[in-house]
Amino acid sequence: MKLLVVGSGGREHALAWKLAQSPRVQLVYVAPGNGGTAQDERLANVDITDIHELADFAEREGVALTVVGPEAPLAAGIVNVFRQRGLKVFGPSKEAAQLESSKDFAKAFMKRHNIPTAAYETFSDAAAAHAYVDKNGAPIVIKADGLAAGKGVVVAMSLEEAHQAIDMMLADNKLGDAGARVVIEEFLAGEEASFIVMVDGKHVLALASSQDHKRLQDGDQGPNTGGMGAYSPAPIVTPQLHARVMREIILPTVAGMEKEGIRYTGFLYAGLMIDAQGNPKTLEFNCRMGDPETQPIMARLKGDFSKVVEHAIAGTLNQVELDWDRRTALGVVLAAHNYPETPRKGDRISDIPAEADDSVTFHAGTQMVDGKLVTSGGRVLCVVGLADSVRSAQNVAYETVNRISFDGMQYRNDIGYRAAGRKQ
Ligand code: AMP
Ligand code: GLY
Repeated sequence: MKLLVVGSGGREHALAWKLAQSPRVQLVYVAPGNGGTAQDERLANVDITDIHELADFAEREGVALTVVGPEAPLAAGIVNVFRQRGLKVFGPSKEAAQLESSKDFAKAFMKRHNIPTAAYETFSDAAAAHAYVDKNGAPIVIKADGLAAGKGVVVAMSLEEAHQAIDMMLADNKLGDAGARVVIEEFLAGEEASFIVMVDGKHVLALASSQDHKRLQDGDQGPNTGGMGAYSPAPIVTPQLHARVMREIILPTVAGMEKEGIRYTGFLYAGLMIDAQGNPKTLEFNCRMGDPETQPIMARLKGDFSKVVEHAIAGTLNQVELDWDRRTALGVVLAAHNYPETPRKGDRISDIPAEADDSVTFHAGTQMVDGKLVTSGGRVLCVVGLADSVRSAQNVAYETVNRISFDGMQYRNDIGYRAAGRKQ
């Protein structure tokens, strides 16, 4: 059978790579794909992004299943369009995707269903927002309501920063419609983890735990990014915490959506903040897999993922049990010059070491130009190493990193430091 993965990042490369391992899969189309998916003979790039044209393509090529990677096509209703045309697709409908596409929707939803999250209020009036911040003090968190490609959240450590963020979003309209409303919420201290599950409308299947590194520089310094590295499993997610997150966050979310007339299908990603006492709160929902979390997660997943997706679309996820490589997978993102501000494109990338049993490199912002691989986006590659401990996985991943180069390459040297410092 032929499958389709929608998107062009490292997440989509990893999903397509995993799906293509199935003996019953002939070819995985990736739309639009990147320089890495272009090079793999089991994958084929398709230069289409319009969701109606993608449906035409899927119909014409007899695509058996489609998996949607990023939030933008989901929020635009790609799943609704595919379903209307009788095409099998895994992802949330436009209505369900509001859990990610509107922070205000997500916060109000969590409040209605008693799902633990930071206290908040929503504003479209700048004066009222400024007054709220003055009343509550810093640190405080300002979030654009809409999708802002990772630029919509300001964790303000001072009142001045908070006021600036409000002006940027509400007065100067720097984020356009996405910032026309803002959620202002309580600052939460603790350690973050990514909790990602698959939902078929009724049943929930948890994927392995993971942790991302959002800041650009070592020691969690510098600006927020889409994610500079991730590893799986995240030892902070103990079996007890796992059970609690399922009971207090994930299951009430799926049930709450159903109660409100929205059947949730697709990946559901709860970004968690876990406080010093081990209590989890929800920072945000994403209606998709994480990037770069997907890369180490897919590197650890065993078995035929196309069958899992088939069950997810059929509503029979309760029949699936996932099998994980017991090793830790750790992914280091190599980013372009001047990422995240205005990443430079067109830098020639050196040869990338071939995939091995303990290492695989997924592409994101890469492109083949005249037979040569060049950078074409902010996050360029994600190098994953697998080994029996976090430290060994770091060694394997960084050994590969050291063999790759391009002008302006930036990466963190400390991916996995929290887990490496924790007793295992
Ligand atoms: P979000 O897109 O809502 O997950 O926010 C992006 C990042 O901002 C998160 O991964 C956290 O690092 C940080 N963040 C968001 N909300 C809060 C909060 N209430 N308290 C502290 N940090 C936060
Ligand atoms: N790695 C964070 C995200 O995908 O939202």
